[in-house]
Amino acid sequence: MTANHSTNMRTIRTVSEMQATADELRKDRRIAFVPTMGYLHEGHLALVRKARELADVVVVSIFVNPIQFGPTEDLARYPRDFDRDAALLEKERTDIIFYPNDGEMYEKGFTTYVEVRKLEDHLCGKTRLGHFTGVATVVAKLFNIVKPHCAVFGQKDYQQLMVIERMVKDLNMDVEIVPYPTVREPDGLAMSSRNTYLSDIERKKARLISASLRKAEEMVGSGERNTDTIRRAVDDVLHQEDGIDVEYINICDTGTLEDVPVIAGRAVLAVACRIGKTRLIDNTILTEA
Ligand code: PAJ
Repeated sequence: MTANHSTNMRTIRTVSEMQATADELRKDRRIAFVPTMGYLHEGHLALVRKARELADVVVVSIFVNPIQFGPTEDLARYPRDFDRDAALLEKERTDIIFYPNDGEMYEKGFTTYVEVRKLEDHLCGKTRLGHFTGVATVVAKLFNIVKPHCAVFGQKDYQQLMVIERMVKDLNMDVEIVPYPTVREPDGLAMSSRNTYLSDIERKKARLISASLRKAEEMVGSGERNTDTIRRAVDDVLHQEDGIDVEYINICDTGTLEDVPVIAGRAVLAVACRIGKTRLIDNTILTEA
């Protein structure tokens, strides 16, 4: 265990030390957990603050999980800055950073995966093959290592949240999943570590993503229920400027993620697009007034 000077925050790098520490803590304290891939922003820190409210001990993991990246994705260039992250987490009164390396998480011979079927056939799962298996597998491992009572996940990654909730139910994991609303920049762009890839011009265009979601909310608010009509209007907003390449605009059942023809009760509108080389996602819950 490494002491981070002047506070009690500790950085743990091995599975065995994290597990032993968790066993000791669980004797008389509640552990809240926030899994991340680092390069932290206000969205992550809001999750940490939520965790701080929920338990006595806050553990944040920083691990860029190689098995959730496809062969053509951005694993190698994914932004990393441990010292900056540690300073931010210290300010939020984090107790433990779990910061393993790839070898510690995936020993030679590793061959067990958690596959959450059906949910991964929709939205991002269609193009990011194996991504959600990678996410579910690493989160299952992290739960076994950190042994939290509860774990906070952002609604920004709505499909990921559904996959994790399903996994926890199906495998009877004894962890409470706490969803947290999407934290946005002043112009509405959902915060993301990947926003740092955007050039100034791309960054300005990116505000259209959240603007398109707001447009859909307004339409539902004024009585529109037909999802094709709403999807077309979302597409129109995204095409107000050149250079936004739409991957999908779907309006789905909030639980199964299957497309719905009309809004009855609640539905999730999920959008994925590419601006230059950067893939961005966002979503909102559409609710019948
Ligand atoms: P990462 O993208 O670092 O996100 C970590 C957590 O922060 C996730 O629960 C994500 O939904 C949440 N988050 C990201 N941006 C947010 C925002 N703008 N508002 C609110 N919450 C936000 O998601 C992952 O890492 C990984 O897939 C992980 C779960 C750690 C597994 O490797």
